[in-house]
Amino acid sequence: MQDQPTDPRIQRLRQLRARTQLGGGAEKIAAQHAKGRLTARERIEVLLDKGSFREIDAFVTNRGAGVNDKQALLSDGVVTGWGTIDGRLIYIYSQDFTVVGGSLGQAHAAKIVKVQEMALKNGAPIIGINDSGGARIQEGMLSLVGYSDIFLRNTMASGVIPQISIIMGPCAGGAVYSPALTDFIFMVKGTSYMFVTGPDVVKAVTHEDVTFEELGGALVHNSVSGVAHVAAESEGDCLYLLRMLLNYLPSNNMEEPPFTKTRDDPLRTDALLDTIIPDNPNKPYDVKQIIRSIVDDGRFFEIHEHFAANIIVGFAHMGGHSVGIVANQPQILAGVLDINASEKAARFVRFCDSFNIPIITFEDVPGFMPGVGQEHGGIIRAGAKLLYAYCEATVPKINVITRKAYGGAFCVMSPRSTRGDLVFAWPTAELAVMGPDGAVKIIYRRELAAATDPEARRIELINQYKEDFANPFVAAANGHIDDIIEPSETRPRLINAVEMLRNKRDTNPPKKHGNIPL
Ligand code: HXC
Repeated sequence: MQDQPTDPRIQRLRQLRARTQLGGGAEKIAAQHAKGRLTARERIEVLLDKGSFREIDAFVTNRGAGVNDKQALLSDGVVTGWGTIDGRLIYIYSQDFTVVGGSLGQAHAAKIVKVQEMALKNGAPIIGINDSGGARIQEGMLSLVGYSDIFLRNTMASGVIPQISIIMGPCAGGAVYSPALTDFIFMVKGTSYMFVTGPDVVKAVTHEDVTFEELGGALVHNSVSGVAHVAAESEGDCLYLLRMLLNYLPSNNMEEPPFTKTRDDPLRTDALLDTIIPDNPNKPYDVKQIIRSIVDDGRFFEIHEHFAANIIVGFAHMGGHSVGIVANQPQILAGVLDINASEKAARFVRFCDSFNIPIITFEDVPGFMPGVGQEHGGIIRAGAKLLYAYCEATVPKINVITRKAYGGAFCVMSPRSTRGDLVFAWPTAELAVMGPDGAVKIIYRRELAAATDPEARRIELINQYKEDFANPFVAAANGHIDDIIEPSETRPRLINAVEMLRNKRDTNPPKKHGNIPL
């Protein structure tokens, strides 16, 4: 409880500040709560370390209004400032839906731009909590200019500081593009939506009937469009997950990610891994089991869990060091690389490279997805993105080939020849231009046609091919893999590799920027 000040100026300050804290007023706050949503300020309270938030620009008003104006929108529908998460500085803005639907006017935009610039200058992550009806219609052009100002800062900050967007309510029209320019988008199931045009406009233009949820709900953007990266169960869960994510990230591109102490023994082995790969090469297994067995304390923070599940990406710690993990998932579509999987992994690799996070790749990939749909959809362009991302990356790149490394997909998934630093293979690895069945059909077509027992000969030739090509020893003999390791010892070998590569320095030729095949 504060003492009642005698100085009227301090009294006035306190009164005005109290007004700023109420946003759109008690009624609107109750309506927000009734929808299962927190207010802008409550979200900040839950997210940041207790008592660490420092607000700025609380007395900013909407364009043309004075602070004494009874109609003035104090704070103009967005709360901005900084604070800490686990003691580390972050900048934040949180849109207040209780004030004109969190819509973005000129002053609102200028407040966001101010914290964006502070975050960039001071090298700390920025978190945007989005809950907005989009451009404030009453402010016309000026709100559009405000969006463009924000988009420019998003782009300038890209690759310099982590930018994370949380969607907690509607995020309509121009409001979607700032999140889309940031590194990660978190959504909440059932209460958050993103769309460029809402259901009414969709109905008018394309005559499609859709609900908010069907058009742009959390699951749609996490599993179908790939726009969002994390789907949380509730607002509390979402804010908790965001705190977890920050454990893996440095504050800016000039820093290393934070070291996270662990009691998990770096020399721990796991005998179960020796038998995890089925004898039948067409049988699937769950690569997440391998990942969880190898990383510190079994903790894996998956990104894009529901999108293109034939490739897995996410963060973990290895001996306390942050790593990014990319893994083909044989359980889904045999781990094949298709358009979505290529784009998902490419974006993740580029994020890790921007922020000094070593990349560990678990490879078991039969190749690129065949099909008219994939070819016409641009699998060439999408696959090239992943190829480009891995080639361009200068962070430590370590590859573990668990089983198939066939064809073009082998070339894509960080081999030594694209500046992979270390390539390990399990004894179950098969490195070849294609699988034994396909290869035998092509190179022995004439011989098989002439054979008295073509099936017996085919099996004989397949076995011969496996012996000659589909094993790790041929590649090891050429130095294309650095070592064949026992699966059980993968964790100690990888931790040792991450530590060995800690001071790696590599650069790309000077250029304005490359031209990734977007
Ligand atoms: C001004 C807005 C607003 C907006 C909402 N409000 N959106 N005011 N500009 N864009 C106001 C409402 O008038 C209302 O005011 C209050 O916010 C709460 O809105 P409701 O509609 O009552 O809430 P709800 O039913 O929850 O619906 C939320 C909503 C809906 C889905 C966001 O309001 C909506 O569809 N808004 C418009 C969305 C949109 O089309 N935006 C695109 C703008 S164009 P009162 O006073 O009644 O409480 C754009 C282009 C930019 O953004 C392009 C840049 C690249």
